[in-house]
Amino acid sequence: MPDPVAVNQMFARIARRYDRANRLLSGGADRWWRRRLVAAVRRSRPQIVLDLATGSGDVAFALARALPAGIEIMGMDFCLPMLAEAEVKKVRLGGCPNVSFRAGDGLALPLADASVDAVTIAFGLRNMADRGRALREMRRVLRAPHGRLFVLEFSQPAPWFRPFYYGYLRHVLPRLARWITGDRTAYDYLGATIGDFPSRDQLDGEFRAAGFSAVRGIGLTLGIVALHEAAV
Ligand SMILES: C[S@@+](CC[C@H](N)C(=O)[O-])C[C@H]1O[C@@H](n2cnc3c(N)ncnc32)[C@H](O)[C@@H]1O
Repeated sequence: MPDPVAVNQMFARIARRYDRANRLLSGGADRWWRRRLVAAVRRSRPQIVLDLATGSGDVAFALARALPAGIEIMGMDFCLPMLAEAEVKKVRLGGCPNVSFRAGDGLALPLADASVDAVTIAFGLRNMADRGRALREMRRVLRAPHGRLFVLEFSQPAPWFRPFYYGYLRHVLPRLARWITGDRTAYDYLGATIGDFPSRDQLDGEFRAAGFSAVRGIGLTLGIVALHEAAV
């Protein structure tokens, strides 16, 4: 599992170039993946949403655009420079009064039990130092019986596509990333964590072990990314 201090320092180093790197390295697909996540959240009609590992806030802002105006959206991350980027973006977008950002660790959420209706986490679960503990924390803060967890994360693609994909992760992505961010090690780490990450079925099993029910995951873009949904 990743070392949280190293993860925090790495995101702090790349915070200012994070959005640009995302767009270029995913060929713009990251926006479409987040839109799929937001559409699923919208169907669950939450009143309070926690966007954990919010980073520069793209999911939180996409939720604010898609959900009715009175819905409260809280973006949380343990990396302060990423949250600073989110705050800059918030001002640029005209304020978004229903979106707030606060510091917090996914392994010990600074929130009361049963205090939110939906938890979203996009490309953040892979970075948690203890995935089981992070999932149990998300379960703890969700309200029963309607609380829902939505996880967007890299996954293991269709078998025929794996050689091309792993070739891209190993040889192309680090070079592109170094050119875009000036920090090669950050994206070496990305390739390694994606390669080591559990398959869709394995991850669904971890959700059940953390106390979630009605777990389901769908593959997006040949399965390189999966959208998982689970109920409390
Ligand atoms: C790849 S970024 C994803 C950001 C955003 N969700 C997105 O879709 O662009 C991963 C984020 O997870 C955050 N993170 C990693 N471990 C964390 C933890 N234990 N608690 C809170 N945030 C964490 C990092 O600081 C980083 O901002």
